[in-house]
Amino acid sequence: MSDDTLIDAAIAVRTRAYAPYSRFLVGAALHDADGHLFIGCNTENAAYPEGICAEGGAISAMVAAGGRRIADLVICGGGDRPCAPCGGCRQKIREFGAPGLRIRMVNPSGDVLLVRTLAELLPDAFGPEDLGAA
Ligand code: THU
Repeated sequence: MSDDTLIDAAIAVRTRAYAPYSRFLVGAALHDADGHLFIGCNTENAAYPEGICAEGGAISAMVAAGGRRIADLVICGGGDRPCAPCGGCRQKIREFGAPGLRIRMVNPSGDVLLVRTLAELLPDAFGPEDLGAA
């Protein structure tokens, strides 16, 4: 256990990942603008492309609850190599995250392996503003 709610939540939900094919477990935890906590884990599928990433699950949970802004995000992979969000997830995060959004990548022991802003992970991103959305 760390003393950080999001880190603890990402570690915990990672243990519930369904990843029989890759055996690569991922957990994601986020706070929305109101401080509500949402979690997700990767959920693979025998039809491989139908698998869902941990970040996408957490984002969908936030949206379903009415949240529209990611205020903080933690991703937990295995081992000591940071689990950076895949390209598709970076774009999904972009939809609900400001350029300065902090994204922390941790291991199952709670060590913070890498900290990046969304803008660092996805520079010059296309986003809602490009379509005239607020
Ligand atoms: N995965 C995630 O859930 N999030 C990431 O940021 C990277 C990769 C999952 C997808 C797949 O189930 C497994 O990790 C291996 O790619």
